Amino acid sequence: MVRNVAGVVADLDPEDVHLLSGVEQGMRFSEWVDRERLPDFADMPAEEVDYRLDRCERRELVERRTIQYEGFTLTDRGYDVLALHTFAERDTVEGVGAPLGVGKESDVLEVSSYRPLALKFHREGYTEFRQVDRERDYTSDHNHVSWLYTARKAAEREYEVLRALYPDVSVPQPIDQNRHAVVMAKLDGVELAQATLEPDQAAGVLDLILREAAVTYEAGYVHADLSEYNVFVAEEGVTVFDWPQAVPTDHDNAHELLVRDVSNAASYFTRKFPGEVDDVDAERVARAIEDGTFESVRTA
Ligand SMILES: Nc1ncnc2c1ncn2[C@@H]1O[C@H](COP(=O)(O)OP(=O)(O)OP(=O)(O)O)[C@@H](O)[C@H]1O
Ligand SMILES: [Mg+2]
Repeated sequence: MVRNVAGVVADLDPEDVHLLSGVEQGMRFSEWVDRERLPDFADMPAEEVDYRLDRCERRELVERRTIQYEGFTLTDRGYDVLALHTFAERDTVEGVGAPLGVGKESDVLEVSSYRPLALKFHREGYTEFRQVDRERDYTSDHNHVSWLYTARKAAEREYEVLRALYPDVSVPQPIDQNRHAVVMAKLDGVELAQATLEPDQAAGVLDLILREAAVTYEAGYVHADLSEYNVFVAEEGVTVFDWPQAVPTDHDNAHELLVRDVSNAASYFTRKFPGEVDDVDAERVARAIEDGTFESVRTA
């Protein structure tokens, strides 16, 4: 679900953002931060903490739970606000626009800057956190892995891979990263799954995609989630996006993942354009990519 965080950020005082960072600090130690410790974490008098918590709770930026103690935690929206605030301070983002897509584990929004960009908020770990047994002992989670950590790691990973691949591989240009968020170029075109291709274009588009897989491999990575949902098609060609799960080519499963990528990409075309695209021997194509001899599915 995409919510409009832009209005929320504009409506906040600097002290509200300061309190949110205090809650974030506390969440390094426990998912639910003891209210008593917030004046320390936020470096704010207790009365100010109370006032700010109230404002942030009303805006659904923090959530309160009283079990063994009164605890507060950031909501996904609260964490979004912190990242967005940082991007605004760095002049990466000026305004927030319409949703571009909702993935299984992300929200992607259009943002404005000197040109239209896309902002991807990673949500890995958040859904599981929401489902955690409400009765568990909240005082004993010293070694917890917070969803903040999981989502931030995914964003860092995606940004790192985009930086390694751009511009040799056709990927969205990486612009900035903070916390669980990545800012990148906004893609023109449509997802392959929604693209209306002429049957005689099918084999050519599949070739373009596999060529990107080959250049990606040369650059040291395997996408590991290649499908018709993670490729954009436009007049100018194809762009491969959604990279947090990519693995380096020396990863133990790199070969199997490459075979699966090739097989997923090819099977979309053989299903949709039977007659036009011959069955692809994914194992053989993957070997050709690994050897640096991939030219075309028609020759592989
Ligand atoms: N740079 C971009 N420009 C335009 N739209 C984008 C961009 N990045 C992502 N999108 C849109 O947002 C959707 C979700 O993005 P992405 O696939 O990266 O997220 P995800 O949560 O990892 O997806 P999945 O459901 O595959 O796990 C995409 O399907 C696409 O429509
Ligand atoms: Mg995706």
